[in-house]
Amino acid sequence: MLNFSFQNTTKIHFGEGQIQTLGSAIPKDAKVLVTYGGGSIKTNGVYEQVAAALSEHTWFEFAGIEPNPTYATLMKAQVLIKEHNIDYLLAVGGGSVIDGTKFIAAAALFEGDDPWDIVVKQAPIHAALPIGCVLTLPATGSESNIGSVISRDGNKLPFMHELVRPTFAVLDPAVTLSLSDRQISNGVVDAFVHTIEQYLTYSVDGKVQDRFAEGLLQTLIEEGPKALAADTKNDIAVRGNIMWAATMALNGLIGAGVPQDWATHMIGHELTGAHGIDHARTLSIVLPAVMKVCTEAKREKLLQYAERVWHITQGDDDTRIAQAITATEKFFTTMQVPTRLSDVDLGASDIDPLIEKLVEHGMVALGEHGKVTPEVSRAILTTALA
Ligand code: NZQ
Ligand code: ZN
Repeated sequence: MLNFSFQNTTKIHFGEGQIQTLGSAIPKDAKVLVTYGGGSIKTNGVYEQVAAALSEHTWFEFAGIEPNPTYATLMKAQVLIKEHNIDYLLAVGGGSVIDGTKFIAAAALFEGDDPWDIVVKQAPIHAALPIGCVLTLPATGSESNIGSVISRDGNKLPFMHELVRPTFAVLDPAVTLSLSDRQISNGVVDAFVHTIEQYLTYSVDGKVQDRFAEGLLQTLIEEGPKALAADTKNDIAVRGNIMWAATMALNGLIGAGVPQDWATHMIGHELTGAHGIDHARTLSIVLPAVMKVCTEAKREKLLQYAERVWHITQGDDDTRIAQAITATEKFFTTMQVPTRLSDVDLGASDIDPLIEKLVEHGMVALGEHGKVTPEVSRAILTTALA
């Protein structure tokens, strides 16, 4: 396996009723800004639980962080931060609220002229406000990682910094019961693809990482459909397993010491940036095509994936790989997400502008070998057409 240094400092408070731990998790003398999205927390009881837990704190709120959070919205929070001398942020929501709060945290103490440089120029971050979070949508892993993805004018770009890793995350599976089927599906598929991006590369004999990854994939394959089925969708154990799997899929553990891909994500971000397609639904379209176009680079791991995750053992190598890709597509279809560009009404004429955006964003050497050039990305999108 490759050399690595690993540390994940986010304290996890998992289980039903854990929102009440906010009272002790956030310093009593903090001036807290609670950030949230479009209002789901006001209708599912989460807001009341947060308010009750913070009854002895001084806190303010910033609402309206949208899915695929935008620079313009997030900069509005800076006014509140200055006005009330905010020194602690509590993000209550899904990946968008948490990612957006990470940007708010870094922008508040940014020393340069324009905080957008954090995203577009990877400008150095020397300080950020501390963040805690209450996760309401298991999907991105943002609740315990250093990543954040911010949008501005059709450009959707990531930044990463240790200083924006949440200090703690509350994971109460009961709060996910109010999710729509669409968001449940999106979450399961996003976590699945995060695992794949750190697993389906080439072997470095990272046995622990591989088997953790295979366990997460199998958990998502088993539990994901149960969260959509009428008789099991309210099962807290199902929701809990999905929630913990999604956190573990992108908290740094399975990616330490192994090669990583991320081509599916970077191509997917362009689909969201240009066409507003939900993050996970871009991934379910792009991943099968990546598996097909990059089969040679991923051959050994595709065969391992076929055998260990899907129990495919019959037939020659090419047959087993093809079956594994079909099984992946079938799983995505079971999870009610699209697997082709035609499923989202995109066609061949939409590919050129996407490639131009990849080039503009410097995404010209993607994949675990850096060999996914714009031409390979074009082949991937062409393969994903129909
Ligand atoms: O805004 P509200 O009203 O809260 O509604 C949200 C939103 O409309 C709703 N929702 C969340 N929890 C709910 C709920 N509705 C009912 N009950 C609940 N308990 O769900 C909708 C989608 O929320 P969003 O936060 O956008 O979804 P998700 O968690 O999938 O986050 C997606 C964002 O994260 C980024 C994506 O690019 C995208 O911008 N990612 C972040 C990553 C990271 N930080 O490491 C990695 C990922 O690959 C991803 O790129
Ligand atoms: Zn993702």
